[in-house]
Amino acid sequence: MRIAIVGCGFVADYYLNTLPQHQELELIGVMDKNPERVAKFSQFYGIPSYQSLEELLEDKRVDLVLNLTNPRSHYSVSKACLEAGKHVYSEKPLGVTNQEAKELVAIAQEKGLEISSAPCSVLSETAQSLWKGLRENVVGKVRLVYAEMEDGMVHQMPYQQWLSKSGTPWPYQDEFEVGCTFEHAGYYTTWLTTFFGPVLSVTAFSSCLIPDKVKDVELNPPNTPDFSVACLKFVSGVVARLTCGIVAPHNHELKIIGDRGVMGIKDCWFYDDPIYIQRMIKIRRKVFFNPIKQKYPLVRKTPKFPHRGAQKMDFCRGVAEMAQAITQKRPNRLSKEFCLHNNELVNAIAYALENSSTYQMTTTFEPMQPMDWAC
Ligand SMILES: NC(=O)c1ccc[n+]([C@@H]2O[C@H](COP(=O)([O-])OP(=O)(O)OC[C@H]3O[C@@H](n4cnc5c(N)ncnc54)[C@H](O)[C@@H]3O)[C@@H](O)[C@H]2O)c1
Repeated sequence: MRIAIVGCGFVADYYLNTLPQHQELELIGVMDKNPERVAKFSQFYGIPSYQSLEELLEDKRVDLVLNLTNPRSHYSVSKACLEAGKHVYSEKPLGVTNQEAKELVAIAQEKGLEISSAPCSVLSETAQSLWKGLRENVVGKVRLVYAEMEDGMVHQMPYQQWLSKSGTPWPYQDEFEVGCTFEHAGYYTTWLTTFFGPVLSVTAFSSCLIPDKVKDVELNPPNTPDFSVACLKFVSGVVARLTCGIVAPHNHELKIIGDRGVMGIKDCWFYDDPIYIQRMIKIRRKVFFNPIKQKYPLVRKTPKFPHRGAQKMDFCRGVAEMAQAITQKRPNRLSKEFCLHNNELVNAIAYALENSSTYQMTTTFEPMQPMDWAC
């Protein structure tokens, strides 16, 4: 599958990091609306560049476009790619409104194309192993899940010194304007919807706790929520609480609570994060979760890939999954409907603000198949 990248910013380096592991993907060109960015990126990696999106879309060799632009450009770039007959893998979110995302999926459907969206970490060794444990019923019937996506006080961190491998600065203005819920909630909604199926309703609260995060630029909007909490009720009956924020101390934990114990991990950003089980024990007249944790084994070792700081993720795995699904003419695990459902879920949380009533979900999806190596 021949691919091209639109958007040569901070995250593009992450994709280039693990691309060599996916022999089925051949990167044939890159494009960015910023000519200096594309020139630097193209030179750094030795990949040809396109002068414009039109030039890229006219290249008949390109089968699939990776849309790595900023969230507010996703819709226009993905739409142009689909209309030109290209499959699209978009960074998250698929669209910053439900309308945008629905429209993209409708165009893809009409044209017989695939569209999918990050994150793809549900295809990780840790997520797939957790899911296997749940299918094996290791903690009994699941009643409740606590998922945390807290990143500490990012606005107080030296983020102006954060550079990607090829030297692109972390786009703090865009990150603060788009907000942590759009940026990070998907890392856990995609896992939870894979494990427990579609969500029925979302009761959420989101708020901007620190409006004056930056001094050098005016944020637009100035008050994007930097904290959100949501209770998700799944059609299957499971209830989950998901928090997202850039105020509380770093915490990416997941705890899945069943009748016979807790299954959990420390951080979903590591594809090989170890899984533990805390079983229920009874001592005399008390029943509690055993503080001594047991290990639940990962179904396989992660392939070796460069490890960069706060995460160990194979960003290209979702693109490879999509490419394989297209060539093998089988359903994509990160299907359009799955991505649309997760997009709706994240939007419901991000836009909840402070007076929201319970949101009833309008989309659904067919269950995903586990990865072949995790069945
Ligand atoms: N920064 C991170 O750590 C990170 C991690 C995971 C995912 N993401 C996601 O990746 C995406 C990109 O984020 P980033 O951090 O690389 O941002 P960035 O600002 O560093 O890079 C985005 C690039 O897209 C280009 N661009 C924007 N609109 C365009 C258009 N219409 N046509 C062509 N080029 C266009 C910009 O010029 C810029 O170079 C976002 O959706 C973000 O949520 C970011």
